[in-house]
Amino acid sequence: MKIKYNIISADYVGSFPNWGKCQLPDNPEYAFIGRSNVGKSSFINLLTERNNLALTSSKPGKTRMLNLFLIDGKWNIMDLPGYGYAKVSKAEKSKWEIFISAYILNRPNLLNVFVLIDASIPFQANDIDFINELGENGIAFSIIFTKTDKLSKNKIQSNISGFIRELKNYWTELPLYFMASAIDKTGRQEVLDYIFSLNKQFIDFKKQI
Ligand code: GTP
Ligand code: MG
Repeated sequence: MKIKYNIISADYVGSFPNWGKCQLPDNPEYAFIGRSNVGKSSFINLLTERNNLALTSSKPGKTRMLNLFLIDGKWNIMDLPGYGYAKVSKAEKSKWEIFISAYILNRPNLLNVFVLIDASIPFQANDIDFINELGENGIAFSIIFTKTDKLSKNKIQSNISGFIRELKNYWTELPLYFMASAIDKTGRQEVLDYIFSLNKQFIDFKKQI
C-alpha cells in the first residue's frame, strides 16, 4: 500500500527582505512562485491544511517579502511575491527581478521551485519567459496549474495543452506538472508526495557525505 504523507506542524518563521537574511539555510526548501494572484499563498494553505498560514488576497501584490515557513520542524516552504503585476512601475519590476533571481540563484538549500500557472486563462508569455530563465540557469522546477475549478474540464485541459505546446517550442524534455484547486482541494497529496520523495533523496544524500 502506498504511504500517504501528511504534515503535522506548520509554523511561520518570518518575512525576509533578501535571501542573505533568510533563516534555516540547512533544511530542504521549496519555493512557490508565479504571477501575482495565481494562488501561491492559497496553495500553501491547501498543502499545509492551514487556513491562514500564508496570507492571501483578492488584490494582486499581497506577498511582498520572502515568507518562510517551517514544516514538521524539518523542511521549508518559501512563499514568494508574484511577478507580472501590471500596476507596478518598471523600476519596481526590475527590483523584483533582482530580488527574486538573487534568492533563486543563491539560496543553498533550495531544492525545487514550484511555478504556479493559472489554468483558467490561456498561456501567458511572461510565464514561459520565467520558466525558460529557470531552465537556462539550471534550476530544478516543476509546474502547478492552479484554479482548475474555474472552468469546465475541457477548457482547463485545453489551456494546459496550449501551455505545454508552447513549452515544447523551447524544451525537448517537459517538466513534471501537477493540477490543483484551492477550492476543490485537489492536487495537495500529489505535490506533498513529490516533496517527501525529494526530502528523502536530500537526507540520503546528506548521509553519504
Ligand atoms: P500574490 O501574493 O498577490 O502574488 O498572490 P498569490 O499568488 O499568493 O494569490 P492568493 O493565494 O492570494 O490568491 C489570489 C486570489 O485567487 C484569491 O482571491 C484567492 O481566493 C483566489 N484563488 C486562489 N487559488 C484559487 C483556486 O484554486 N481557485 C479559485 N477559484 N480561486 C483561487
Ligand atoms: Mg501571495
